[in-house]
Amino acid sequence: MCGIVGYIGEKQAAPILLEGLEKLEYRGYDSAGIAVFDGTEIHAKKSMGRLKILSELTHGGETLPGTTGIGHTRWATHGAPSDMNAHPHFNQDKTIAVVHNGIIENYMKLKKKMQDKGYTFKSETDTEVIAHLLDYYYKGDALETITKVMHRVEGSYALGIIFKSEPDKLYAVRKDSPLIVGKSNIGNLIASDVPAVLKYTRDVYFIENEEIVCMTKDDIQFYNIDEEELEKQPATIEWDIDAAEKGGYEYFMLKEMYEQPQAVSDTINPRIKEGKIVIDELGMSDEEIRQIRKIYMIACGSAYHTCVSAKYVFEGLARIPVEVDLASEFRYRHPIYEENTLAIIVSQSGETADSLAALREAKEHGVRVLGIVNVVGSSIAREADNVMYTWAGPEIAVATTKAYSTQLIAHYLLAMKFAQARGTADEKTITEMVKDLKKLPGQIEMLLENKKKIQKFANRYLATEHVFFLGRGLDYAISLEGSLKLKEISYIHSEAYAAGELKHGTISLIEEGTLVVAVATQEELYKKTLSNIQEVKTRGAFVMAVTNVGNTEIEKTADYVIYLPKTNPYFTNSLAVIPLQLFGYYVSLGKGLDVDKPRNLAKSVTVE
Ligand code: F6R
Repeated sequence: MCGIVGYIGEKQAAPILLEGLEKLEYRGYDSAGIAVFDGTEIHAKKSMGRLKILSELTHGGETLPGTTGIGHTRWATHGAPSDMNAHPHFNQDKTIAVVHNGIIENYMKLKKKMQDKGYTFKSETDTEVIAHLLDYYYKGDALETITKVMHRVEGSYALGIIFKSEPDKLYAVRKDSPLIVGKSNIGNLIASDVPAVLKYTRDVYFIENEEIVCMTKDDIQFYNIDEEELEKQPATIEWDIDAAEKGGYEYFMLKEMYEQPQAVSDTINPRIKEGKIVIDELGMSDEEIRQIRKIYMIACGSAYHTCVSAKYVFEGLARIPVEVDLASEFRYRHPIYEENTLAIIVSQSGETADSLAALREAKEHGVRVLGIVNVVGSSIAREADNVMYTWAGPEIAVATTKAYSTQLIAHYLLAMKFAQARGTADEKTITEMVKDLKKLPGQIEMLLENKKKIQKFANRYLATEHVFFLGRGLDYAISLEGSLKLKEISYIHSEAYAAGELKHGTISLIEEGTLVVAVATQEELYKKTLSNIQEVKTRGAFVMAVTNVGNTEIEKTADYVIYLPKTNPYFTNSLAVIPLQLFGYYVSLGKGLDVDKPRNLAKSVTVE
């Protein structure tokens, strides 16, 4: 994954690069580095560990002179996190510096070839091969050199490059890894994501695959791989830099949980017109919707969990068969493609490698693809036939909260639209559902007010080793998310089970004091889940239950109960997720962990 930045302008580059990298640390944070050209030499500083260390080493960048530079924050793929493997990487005589986000798949072969030609490698990275290839091809024309390297490397890359022999230029290029260019009145910038440049500009160019950027402090030129100049128009970023900052909260995750009411209503409101669901960006007429025979829902992690929920909603409400797939499985499982199938790819970042590959796989087989995506202009958004944006705004914490919640909303809206078009839900039902949908932001806000109570409960479980989450139907879907939220940020082992499945083996793990979180919001399954709660209770479990207001008899069995306000049964996941997110958050906080940046993880998983 990794984040890259670059700057060329009038100001000292290093402090600007460090500021930009700070906004990209969510992409990886095991090491960082910058290279700055002072007009005579390219100076570099790299360090294993968080960006803070690099910043201290360079006094916030002050000790590195020069007005052109590139920077990198790393999530290791090839070679362990170390100073040596940190970027930037150089050619042998340090006249070319490069930062890279992505993976060079044929690097072993290329490395061998370069070694045979006498090049020596200092790192274990795939990136270093690019530095040496650039050196090998460079005969005074940087643009030509870059295109030659592009023809040789296979895989994904966003690169920032500086050449000592071209002191007033900074180059960048991308293929399958994100890259943007910001044009500002203090100079020009490149970055993996918009927050890194927002302090200086809102005018941003989204770079497409195989486009090359050549910039000076006052000018930006774009080229294709044939070195033909391209015309590109900048987009204006509407959201504010504050949206990418913590705004007084201790962690981004807490801030983002609190942004859920707004994000949910921003995702709902534009799609409801006169009480009806209108999703123009779907690009499908009611007749086309009626022709769809099957839907694939494909995603990774939490986004996949929203697909598990959506299956229940689509099949129940719109009576259309849904196959849910993990993107990493779908892309290699050779599904049986049939006519009139729709694939829905769900992704916050829009850059998840497996999800993108699944999208391409589906498209190659003639399947129409709809993306449910948060990051505007991301790869999945661009490559899908149609895209429905979740208006969650930038999500920085590695553990998703508001993007997850808006993905659920997108699914509900689509299922309601499909039901409307297919005539499987009458007008009255849809009207009632719309009313309940509009109440969700207020209800989420109310549930967030419970945070102190949940924090108190969470603090009792800081030392626990195993937690089990149970539920049936949609409650199983939310259990998957509750379990992931807890384990990824608290490092406590947890698993989610369909409540009826536990007795087929796993119940042997339940012993005196084991924490079981049982979700029971589906009224028609409520009694069944209650029996399953009883089963674990008898074996010594301590049960925290999440259920609908009014289900007070659960208190006879469960030890601790959280009540959810009344909503449509299809929407309960949107409410049940709130106490589960808070629980995960407060366990992590109580254990003194870095909530926003859990170990071994990164926000945007651009490798398979
Ligand atoms: C967990 C989490 C991940 C992501 C997954 C997919 O909290 O955030 O499981 O949901 O990596 O990422 P996107 O949605 O960017 O495709």
